[in-house]
Amino acid sequence: MTSSRLLYLDNASTSWPKPECMMDAMNKFTAEIGASSGRGAHRLAVESSRQVYLARKRAASLLGVKDESRIVFTLNATEALNLAIKGVLRDGDHVVATGMQHNSVVRPLRRLTTEKNVTVTYVPFERDGSFSLAKLRNEIRPNTRAIIAIHVSNAFGIVAPLSGLAELAKQRSLPLLVDGAQGLGNLSFDLGSLGVDLYAFCGHKAILGPHGTGGLYIREGLELSPLVEGSTGSESESDMQPAYLPDRFESGTQNCLGLAGLAASADFILSIGLEKFVRAKMRVTTHLVEKMKAIPGIELYFTGDLENRTPILAFNVKGHDSSETAEMLDKRFGILVRAGLHCAPMAHKEAGTLERGIVRASIGPFVKESDIDYFVECVDSISSKN
Ligand code: ALA
Repeated sequence: MTSSRLLYLDNASTSWPKPECMMDAMNKFTAEIGASSGRGAHRLAVESSRQVYLARKRAASLLGVKDESRIVFTLNATEALNLAIKGVLRDGDHVVATGMQHNSVVRPLRRLTTEKNVTVTYVPFERDGSFSLAKLRNEIRPNTRAIIAIHVSNAFGIVAPLSGLAELAKQRSLPLLVDGAQGLGNLSFDLGSLGVDLYAFCGHKAILGPHGTGGLYIREGLELSPLVEGSTGSESESDMQPAYLPDRFESGTQNCLGLAGLAASADFILSIGLEKFVRAKMRVTTHLVEKMKAIPGIELYFTGDLENRTPILAFNVKGHDSSETAEMLDKRFGILVRAGLHCAPMAHKEAGTLERGIVRASIGPFVKESDIDYFVECVDSISSKN
């Protein structure tokens, strides 16, 4: 029998539930604003542009970026990564990248290897979940054009040493491009002082915005080719794409409705304080890890160092395939998790879980310790029936 209870632990896919203020903002936008941002000067167009501006300003605040015009909006982190990768790399370039990459980096790079003769060296994470900067440094060649890092592994929740990578990139005068799909909202950091060059983020995951929102931070002075060109509502007399940001990278009507929602969810987090918001999720995650450690027959991945972690836990129940466990959790207990490879086969290869995948429980801000107690009881019951 299918359980009627619902416990959503798939926040790394997309966060849910969303804050009420986000839903209110989207309803209000639809009912009372509706117009396109940056198109025309009538009152509703101006209000729509204001909503997009607020989203940009607040995304910049969460990222620790002073100049909000350096944030360009995209559909999701994948589009932002494509913009960054294809905007920076040229024929014959070499890239050095951390391991644990998601397909949103692996696939665009793979295409460039065949179409533009680009070469890529991936440097895996260590078995304990740490990352060796020295190994990455050794792979830099004369034709290396960029360093690409995953901030947080979407499958395992482990974190790359961003400040060390930024320092290394600076020493070697290379741009550092970061896949921050699981970073923003799960960690507290400051891009301005870190000196990261390009940071792709997601609006609909840990910062609680709606689907169809994401973006790219582009450091001032960094040249990047646009992925898409067209109408921007600015310099319309010219057949050239504007040179200034954000217009250079935002062609076509924007997702104003989604960005109005993102402005509200970002404000929700800013009013709590990013650090406090992150700490609260990590408290619940630590409770989860401790309780899971006490269940016999459970394999946990990378739970040695909880200081350097995000609210994502990978596990398996011995004797069960990951998708089997996830299906039992859903059907019998109403617990929603994601199993399999999480679009990141590279990460699973490094962790030795490519065959079986893992079950991933990812914590959002509305998950309580009592929810975790229920979850652990259910996992225990699956495990003890082996
Ligand atoms: N990449 C997203 C995930 O980890 C969709 O589930």
